Amino acid sequence: MTESKVQALPVEFYTRFFSELATSRKPSPIRSLFPLERTPGLISLLAGKPNPTTFPLTSIKLTSRSPTNPGEEIVTEVNGKALAEGLQYGPSDGIPDLLNWLYGLQERSHGRKKGEGWRISVGSGSQDVIYKTFLDLFNTGETLLVEAPVYAGVSSIFSALRLELIEVETDAKGIVSQSLRSILENWPAGKPKPKALYTVPYGCNPTGMTAALERRKEVLELAHVHDFLILEDDPYYYLYFGQAPRVPSYFALELEEQNVGRVIRFDSMSKILSAGIRIGFVSGPEPILRSIDMHTGFSHLQPPSLTQTITFSILNAWGHDGFYTHTQAVSQFYHDKRDVFETAMKKHLDGLAEWTRPEAGMFFWFKLLIGNGTDEGDSESIIRTKAVERGVLALPGTIFFPGGKKSAYVRASFSLNTPEEVDEALRRLKLVILDARGEQA
Ligand SMILES: Cc1ncc(COP(=O)(O)O)c(C=O)c1O
Repeated sequence: MTESKVQALPVEFYTRFFSELATSRKPSPIRSLFPLERTPGLISLLAGKPNPTTFPLTSIKLTSRSPTNPGEEIVTEVNGKALAEGLQYGPSDGIPDLLNWLYGLQERSHGRKKGEGWRISVGSGSQDVIYKTFLDLFNTGETLLVEAPVYAGVSSIFSALRLELIEVETDAKGIVSQSLRSILENWPAGKPKPKALYTVPYGCNPTGMTAALERRKEVLELAHVHDFLILEDDPYYYLYFGQAPRVPSYFALELEEQNVGRVIRFDSMSKILSAGIRIGFVSGPEPILRSIDMHTGFSHLQPPSLTQTITFSILNAWGHDGFYTHTQAVSQFYHDKRDVFETAMKKHLDGLAEWTRPEAGMFFWFKLLIGNGTDEGDSESIIRTKAVERGVLALPGTIFFPGGKKSAYVRASFSLNTPEEVDEALRRLKLVILDARGEQA
């Protein structure tokens, strides 16, 4: 057997990163003994687990579209041992079958091998594990680097924790690493440096942008020099539809560094399997993942076993190859939706808005040309009131800037609407923009 060359950062490295909440948690006296139950020959009288034979469900029949032949249906049945496991309490980090499948996925997608100092934990959606990670890393008032604009679903966590947010500029290539460098190199002496940077590197929510390779490398280098963690929130990773080959994740790129363990990666099944099934997962250094598991044990014991069992039976029937075939079809779907949206943008908003075409995800981020030469203007009242009055709902850019900065940008999602609805929505938006510019239709 060849020795792994991957050098994981030592456990002590993470001590300074944990919040008081995380440090003061004690392992559950019952849950911490669960792994022992798997010891061969051991008779466990440990947990107050109900007997699954008393539960009324006897089997679950799942019918899903074949990824290779969408006309064909794959029928999977969950019964016997798998069903009993799905109906029972399970480990805080997830059921072993699903975890193993996900380890295989992370190895194929990011080149990260199991047993090299990192782990996976399943959450009830990625939001669940993102939330726990912030609570386990940050004390009230500490400093966090965030890309700006930033996913509004995490801004509320930041404000609840009253974090001091250092907004890092982004453009069509993702985080402007030069701006990050300048922030860190001019950091006030004596003030503790930020513990982490939060970013959505593929098909960013809200900007739709995908971070370029050279930018990612520079950000990673800065993380080493200035000693911070990278929180890679990547639910749109499998929704990449650009022409160029996809760039590696931060989680993959850190393998090129001297030692690994600065990247905490969040994946989601919401955009590719189902949003309602609530399955996401975090991959990252063992000490941090242990803390997240303890958090899960405290908050809701574990992610639901049954949804994990169902997810596993679908993924297992497909295999990793089938999963990639499925995600390619999903990304092609959004590619086509993107094109429909852009066609309508060109038809109605030419000269009234500016945008960069997204190559992943499901969002268009466009700037309304409502400025007066010195000021770009603010889309907020136009989008919140005028557009709604005309029958279009979108999001004004300002809500994605934690500091409440005015913004001429708008976020529009192209995931759901028919071409006719898109055309009509943008026609209505055109009238609103013309009105704001004081022009006639
Ligand atoms: C950037 C980002 N992170 C996290 C989430 C939460 O995803 P999940 O459904 O996996 O909780 C979303 C959902 O839209 C998102 O856009």
